[in-house]
Amino acid sequence: MHVVKSAAGLSKADAYREMNSQRAAVLAGESSGLANAANMAAILWQSLHDLNWAGFYFLRGRELVLGPFQGKPACVRIPLGKGVCGTAVTERRSVLVDDVRAFPGHIACDTASRSELVVPLLSNTGPTEAVPTRAGVLGVLDLDSPLPGRFDPADQAGCEAIAAMLIRHLTPS
Ligand code: SME
Repeated sequence: MHVVKSAAGLSKADAYREMNSQRAAVLAGESSGLANAANMAAILWQSLHDLNWAGFYFLRGRELVLGPFQGKPACVRIPLGKGVCGTAVTERRSVLVDDVRAFPGHIACDTASRSELVVPLLSNTGPTEAVPTRAGVLGVLDLDSPLPGRFDPADQAGCEAIAAMLIRHLTPS
């Protein structure tokens, strides 16, 4: 089993590069999308500081449904367009929130959360894809922090790179 290394002491860019190489090692050759999402949630949780939640929601019909995660139990279903997660899907873009209290409609699964980064999982398999998507979105990667302003554009870029690589390992088998 691949050992998840701490990102302590690394620059942010190096920490995301390290996570991406861990992702490659852990996910290589594994066809279970569920297992791969679970391991990716663990890599994010182990590698990033000051998180209180890290995980996935997947599109099921017109709502997002909770996927593998680390942290406290969370809301199970989020309607499209609602909360930070539902907004990332309908707007098909990452949403970086410095202060969740200032985000209209933020869904507080954990009252300790103060900032949040949500990155859509954009399908690149085209119109013949076997998995359900909305405008090419399979679901979202969601990170929460108890610190205001925890996430910055470098986190967004790092998570978008991880999401782009991860997507091909998420197709249910
Ligand atoms: N805060 C999210 C809900 C999911 S939890 O943070 C795990 C939102 O507003 O969509």
